[in-house]
Amino acid sequence: MERSKAREEAERLRNEINRHNRLYYVEARPVISDVAFDRLLERLIAIEREFPDLVTPDSPSQRVGGEVTKVFPVVTHREPMLSLSNTYSIDEVSDFCRRVGKLVEAEGGRTPEFVAELKFDGVAVSLLYRDGMLLRGATRGDGTRGDDITANLRTIPTVPLSITLPGGPLFGMQEGDVEVRGEVFMRKEDFAKLNDARPEEDCFANPRNATAGTLKLQDSAEVARRRMSFVAYFLKGEGDGGSSQLQRLCQLEAMGFMTGGNYRLCRGEEEIAGFIGEWSEKRWTLPYETDGVVLKLNDTSLWDRLGATSKSPRWAIAYKYPALQAKTTLRDVVFQVGRLGTITPVAELEPVRLAGSTVSRSTLHNFDEIERLGLRIGDRVMIEKSGEVIPKVVAVVTDERSASTDAIEVPEQCPECGTPLVRPEGEVSYYCPNEEGCPAQKRGRILHFASRNAMDIQNLGDALVAQLVSQGLVGDPGDLYRLGQDQLEGLERMGAKSARNLLDALAESRSRDYGRLLYALGIRHVGQATARELARACPSVEHLRAAGEDELAAVPDIGPVVARSIIGFFTRPWVRDMLRKLHEAGLRMQADAPTQLVNRNFEGLSVIFTGGLERYDRQTAAQLVLERGGRVVSSVSKKTGLVVAGSEAGSKLDKALKLGVRVIGEDEFEAML
Ligand code: IVH
Repeated sequence: MERSKAREEAERLRNEINRHNRLYYVEARPVISDVAFDRLLERLIAIEREFPDLVTPDSPSQRVGGEVTKVFPVVTHREPMLSLSNTYSIDEVSDFCRRVGKLVEAEGGRTPEFVAELKFDGVAVSLLYRDGMLLRGATRGDGTRGDDITANLRTIPTVPLSITLPGGPLFGMQEGDVEVRGEVFMRKEDFAKLNDARPEEDCFANPRNATAGTLKLQDSAEVARRRMSFVAYFLKGEGDGGSSQLQRLCQLEAMGFMTGGNYRLCRGEEEIAGFIGEWSEKRWTLPYETDGVVLKLNDTSLWDRLGATSKSPRWAIAYKYPALQAKTTLRDVVFQVGRLGTITPVAELEPVRLAGSTVSRSTLHNFDEIERLGLRIGDRVMIEKSGEVIPKVVAVVTDERSASTDAIEVPEQCPECGTPLVRPEGEVSYYCPNEEGCPAQKRGRILHFASRNAMDIQNLGDALVAQLVSQGLVGDPGDLYRLGQDQLEGLERMGAKSARNLLDALAESRSRDYGRLLYALGIRHVGQATARELARACPSVEHLRAAGEDELAAVPDIGPVVARSIIGFFTRPWVRDMLRKLHEAGLRMQADAPTQLVNRNFEGLSVIFTGGLERYDRQTAAQLVLERGGRVVSSVSKKTGLVVAGSEAGSKLDKALKLGVRVIGEDEFEAML
C-alpha cells in the first residue's frame, strides 16, 4: 500500500473504531457485531505494523496492552484526592443540606442546589490530559500520592486516549491541563465472565475487588483482557471556574467520557430524598454496581470556599443504601466436605430475588451457627446481602414457623465417603477423618495446590479435578505431574489443545519456589506467611520433615499447635508418597541460596501486614521486607516488631495497639524501604 493511502486508511479506521467504541460503551447501542469490530481493529493494526511511524499515541491499537512493569512509579496528585463522608441516614443527608445552606448563606449565596449522582462501586482514579492527550492516570493511593497506572488505564475502552472539545471549549474552559476523576469498575457481565474462567477458590468476591486486583497487575495485556470500564464524575480544567457541577458533567460527556447519565439537579431535601428513593430499587437494573447516591453542591465556585476536613470536602456527601433483606424458606441443609475434612452445612433456600439476583444457597458456617439461629428445615428465614457479599441467613422468622418443621440432624457419616464423622473436643466443626480416601478431600487438596497463591496452575478447575479424581487418574497433587496427553484427551470436554495447555501449565509450575510449594502442600494452619517462615528456617523438605517440635516452635509465627500439625502431616504415609512423586517430578524441594539483601532496614524485625495496602499486593510487600533482612509473620504477639496497617485493618491492628507493638501506615512503610 502506498504511504499516503495508508495514512488516510488508518485515519478513517481510527475514527470508525472510536465511533463504534463510543456507541458500544458510552451509548450502549452497538451497530456492528463484535466480529466486525475486531476486523476493523485488526486491519488498523496491520497497517500500523507496515508503517510504524503512522501510529499515533491515541490510536485504538494502543489499548491492547503489552507493557509489563515491575513496580508502579509513584506520582503526587495536583490536588489531594479526597474521599467523601458517608452516611446511611436520610436525616443526616438533610443535616448536610441545612449545614451547606447556612454556609452558602453566610457567603452571600442563594438557596443551594445539589446534583444527585449515583455512587459507583469501583476504584477511584485520576486522569491527566495535556494538550488533549492522555498524559497519565493514577490511583488515589493515600490521597496525596498514588500509583502511576497509565499503561493499565489506557486499555480501558471508556478512557479516552485523547479529548477534543467539539465546537470549542465550553463554559470558559481553556486548552491546557485537564484533570478528570472518576471510578474504574467492572460491569456485572464482564465480572461474571472473568470469574467463570477461574477456579472457584480464586474467584473474586465482587466486581470491586476484581477491579482493584486488576488495576494492580503489572501486565497490561492481561488488564486489557479483563474488560473494565470508566465513569467520570469530576472535571477540573483551566478557566472552568464559573461553571457548575451540572455543566461539568455535560462537558465531560461532550469530551467523550461516560458519566452514566443518571444524575439530577435537586433543589432541597425533598427532591434529594425523592432521587434516593427512586434509585434504591432501580439501581439493580443497571449493568454495573452502585452502592449509594453522591450529593454535590452544584455551584462549584463555592467549593473552595467551603473547603474540606482532612478527609472529605464539605460540599459533598455520600448516602449509602442499607443492606438488603429478603424472606424465604429453608428447604434443606446439605453438607460440604472441605480439603481438611471439615463439614460445612449449606442452606438450600426457596429461590428468592434479592438485590437484583436470585438467591438459592447460602453457607451456614457450622453447627453452632445453626443452633444459635435456632434453625429448622421448613423455617421462614431472613437473608441479608450487605455490600455485594454472598447473602447469609441472619434470623428465623419464628412468628411464621409452621407446625411441620424438621430438626437439622448432624450427619453421622461423611456425605462423600460414608466414614463416621468426628468432632474434636472444643471445636465447633465436625470432620471426616478419612483423609486418604475421601474424594472430596482429595479434590480440595488438588485445587488448593493448583490455586493462584500456591502453584498457580492455570486451566485446572473444579470440573476437571472432579473427573481426574473420580476416574482414579489423580489421588494427590503428586499424580498431576504423571498425567499424559492421551489420558487427558480421554476426558470429557477435553480436546488435544486443552490437554496440551494443561500439561504446559503443569510443566511451568515446576519452577515455583520452595516457599510456595510448602504452602501448596496444604498443611493445616500453614498459610502463606507461615510457609515463607518455614522455608527460611528449614531450607529443604527433608530438613522440615526431620524438624522436632522445639525447632519448629522457635520459628517466628509458629506455636505448639502449628508445630504439631506440621509434624503430624509428615508422618502420614500418603504424604510421604506424594512428596516422593513431587520430588521425582523435579519440583523445587529446597530453598535457593539466600538472596543478596537490598539493605538491612528491616533486619531482625518481624513484620505483620493487616488491612489493604493501596500500592503493593501482599506478596510483593512481603518480598520487599525479606530483601531487607526482615521476616513476615501472620499473628500478632509481643515478639512482633512492626505492624503495617492498611485500609480497613481489623483485629490484628487492635491487638497490636493493645500489646504496644509499633504500628505504621503505608507511607511510612515505603519510607522505611
Ligand atoms: S465525588 C472529592 N462522585 O465514592 C469528591 N465519588 O465514598 C470526589 N464515588 O472516593 C468523589 N461514585 O471513589 C464522587 N458520583 C461519584 C462517585 C464517587 C463513586 C466514589 C469515589 C469516592 C468514594 C467516596
